[in-house]
Amino acid sequence: TYVIAEPCVDLLDKACIEECPVDCIYEGDRMLYIHPDECVDCGACEPVCPVEAIYYEDDVPDQWSAYTKANVDFFNDLGSPGGASKAGKVSADPDWVKALEPRGE
Ligand code: F3S
Ligand code: F3S
Repeated sequence: TYVIAEPCVDLLDKACIEECPVDCIYEGDRMLYIHPDECVDCGACEPVCPVEAIYYEDDVPDQWSAYTKANVDFFNDLGSPGGASKAGKVSADPDWVKALEPRGE
């Protein structure tokens, strides 16, 4: 799977959503999350993120390693809806993501 990391927080550019052939990039309140079971590893999302927030799971920078788990935990209650567009925005950010200092300008 691919993982969305800290640069997405409070930016939520969403260019990645347009690229995903399986609609597995879900929107939370503070950032977006890739469904670890629904992602087919096509990699199309990674180059379009303007802030390089997206990494293949083995390539997540060490300082953002917690985001690998965040991209799992976001779906603890949601399960596998099989489509982000029909799920809409979901307020399921992990508590520590919710508690991050506001980012951006
Ligand atoms: Fe976030 Fe980048 Fe997508 S900022 S919403 S991961 S394009
Ligand atoms: Fe979609 Fe990116 Fe995975 S485009 S299938 S989330 S690698």
